[in-house]
Amino acid sequence: MSGEPWWRHAVVYQIYPLSFQDSDGDGYGDLRGIRVRLEYLDWLGVDAIWLSPIYPSPMADFGYDVADYTGVDAVFGTLAEFDALLAEAHARGIRLILDFVPNHSSDRHPWFVESRTARDARRRDWYIWRDPAPGGGPPNNWLSVFGGSAWAYEEATGQYYYHAFLNEQPDLNWRNPAVREAMHGALRFWLDRGVDGFRLDAIWHLIKDERFRDNPPNPAYRPDQPPFFSLLPVYSTDRPEVHDVLAELRRTIDAYADRLLIGEIYLPIERLIAYYGKDLAGLHLPFNFSLIQAAWKAHRLAALVEEYERALPPGGWPNWVLGNHDKHRIATRVGSAQAAVAAMLLLTLRGTPTLYYGDEIGMRDVALPADRVRDPWARDRPAFGRDAARTPMQWDAGAGAGFTEGMPWLPVAEDLEACNVASQRADPSSLLHLYRALIALRRTEPALLSGSYEPVVVSGDALAFRRRHDTRSLLVALNLGGATQRLLLPSGMRGRIALGTRLDRGGERVSAVLTLRGDEGVIVRLE
Ligand code: NOJ
Ligand code: MG
Repeated sequence: MSGEPWWRHAVVYQIYPLSFQDSDGDGYGDLRGIRVRLEYLDWLGVDAIWLSPIYPSPMADFGYDVADYTGVDAVFGTLAEFDALLAEAHARGIRLILDFVPNHSSDRHPWFVESRTARDARRRDWYIWRDPAPGGGPPNNWLSVFGGSAWAYEEATGQYYYHAFLNEQPDLNWRNPAVREAMHGALRFWLDRGVDGFRLDAIWHLIKDERFRDNPPNPAYRPDQPPFFSLLPVYSTDRPEVHDVLAELRRTIDAYADRLLIGEIYLPIERLIAYYGKDLAGLHLPFNFSLIQAAWKAHRLAALVEEYERALPPGGWPNWVLGNHDKHRIATRVGSAQAAVAAMLLLTLRGTPTLYYGDEIGMRDVALPADRVRDPWARDRPAFGRDAARTPMQWDAGAGAGFTEGMPWLPVAEDLEACNVASQRADPSSLLHLYRALIALRRTEPALLSGSYEPVVVSGDALAFRRRHDTRSLLVALNLGGATQRLLLPSGMRGRIALGTRLDRGGERVSAVLTLRGDEGVIVRLE
């Protein structure tokens, strides 16, 4: 297995820095806090941490509005503190991946401040400025992901600028070589410091239609969806030229040894896989969000794994994500009892898994009183708010959950007693211990690290697949429902349970019929 890039065998752990660990009592998580918690991440066994943005930011979108691509926001600490975190992570064998937000900057970024001053400003064409439509109004019908027109009018210069997200997040003009050069420079700044890679934000938005054609209506739009989905964003996103830009970014990364390029892309599988690039010269890992978006049904999950496996380009490495800072918590989506089965699925599928902080202890969406809502997306439509999945990490059952000694920026959960790191670390039957055991098994098991994926059976609420490498072979059997399921195994298939979501079946012999209790999963080592 040596010779394969590290990230193929890695487990990635996403940290939302504002909510992981506060070290100075201001109620916001910070870099020193993360450094203090490296011991935990080491114990858990993750190979890499990905930090959501830590750059200077007015925090209109909590760091996804960057005012300086080569600095650290004071709320998180200093560049020196970042270097200390990176050094200590590396000393523990943990890699560090930064979030990079190329599609848009903050409206306070000096580039935009300059760009908006005049039509002939030096950096005018670093952003996307257009005249009003002939009859007045925005240049076209494009919508912002967060609602409303994606165009903001500037009285001073009589033009609109484009923003795929908030008004405070003007889109950069990636057709401008000067912008590309500046952004590559920012990447090199961090690569030179030793970061191990980047997760590129909103990467399918990067290039817009050269002719700014109107987006067509979406016939499948449902009113419970954000208004953005009322149009098909075929001209504002996923344009063919984006792949040239990504190939260029990849060349910058490849000038350094062993770095990783991940991209955030919400597209159907057949479009997603294009982001591996021609001859795999694009992203190493275009994030695969199919588990986040799918109905939690055995036949559905089995079908989507097969669809993804089939669609991958030759040599393209798969990856799986169960949760992130934009979606409801997995334990809320599938229920607390099922969270263990979801963990087993995530960590036994073929490819690199990404965990979201707190999911390993089964953190759930936290209900927020109206006066604690922070996410700008929730301003008009509370239902779209993402705060519930961004609440402080639950380290212990104390007042600030072990997260802060001050007033936490988002409220801590009420089920703290049952759901915190300290108590689960002391309890071998906890979800946390299951995550740790699954990660440990992956580490040493070639069938999981690089074995093939073979569907075996789907029946009722249960599904089973096989992972095989040379003579090593594992059967993963998962019950996605609450009732007992009996799985008929192919004739001759037998083995012993190596790991179960519950502790009482270790070593049990299995052949012919595998009975799974409700919300149970087992990994069987096959003979
Ligand atoms: C995707 C990020 O994950 C999300 O949190 C953010 O609001 C948008 N991109 C805009 O940067
Ligand atoms: Mg702090």
